[in-house]
Amino acid sequence: MSEKAEIAIIGGSGFYRLAPSLDLNRCVVEDVETPYSNIPVKLSFEELEDVPVCFLARHGEQHRFPPHKVNYRANLWALHEFGIKHIIAVNTLGAINTDFSLPQLIIPDQLIDYTWGRDHTFFDGLNSLSDHIDFTEPFTAELREKLLTQAEKLKLSAATSACVACTQGPRLETAAEIRKLAKDGCDAVGMTLMPEAALARELKISYASIGLVVNMAAGLAEGEISIEAIQEVLAAGLTDVRKLISAVLPTI
Ligand code: HPA
Repeated sequence: MSEKAEIAIIGGSGFYRLAPSLDLNRCVVEDVETPYSNIPVKLSFEELEDVPVCFLARHGEQHRFPPHKVNYRANLWALHEFGIKHIIAVNTLGAINTDFSLPQLIIPDQLIDYTWGRDHTFFDGLNSLSDHIDFTEPFTAELREKLLTQAEKLKLSAATSACVACTQGPRLETAAEIRKLAKDGCDAVGMTLMPEAALARELKISYASIGLVVNMAAGLAEGEISIEAIQEVLAAGLTDVRKLISAVLPTI
């Protein structure tokens, strides 16, 4: 089964298994060694809607790695080693655009990278011109279109374009930082899109994201951001994310 999968799902917060009830008989788990980490990357190969698919929990088991400690290079390298050609990433986000509801699905088409100090490239050795990937459109248009078509069929009212700010975390932002991100043109904010999206491009893997908005960003709602409230919205939103993934897989 593992050799057949060409599509991977990278699950984010709250999304640690492809199907909530994992059928161990139908799932092959591989611990993949990579040149980028002493800790192997756990990939699970399953079938969903009769499509072979690889699942990777971005934060590891039990959310072991916070966003700034995720070994993005090891994760992407492991997927590349297994011949993955398409990645659908799931990213939880805070809303900057006040038109968004909670939960809200968005299929982002742009991003701005505000992270720092993360190992963000495979091209760390001798430079060559081909090491400068084009990143004008950070998400793969064909994959985004497929997600949008299925979201529309399922009446999930996913936002069809959005610019996502990727911040360093793990703390949430200040209200002033969110005002600045809004001025920069960002509609939502998360912590995990980068360097993941760029590393996928370096490896020539197509990449699109299902963004799940789980809170209004700092300063845009009354008072503090409550993690309990986020968890409730997250649980509700993930049902739609799973529906969308099941619908899109057979179309890729
Ligand atoms: N900020 C950054 N990342 C997030 C947020 C937020 O408000 N909500 C979910 N991920």
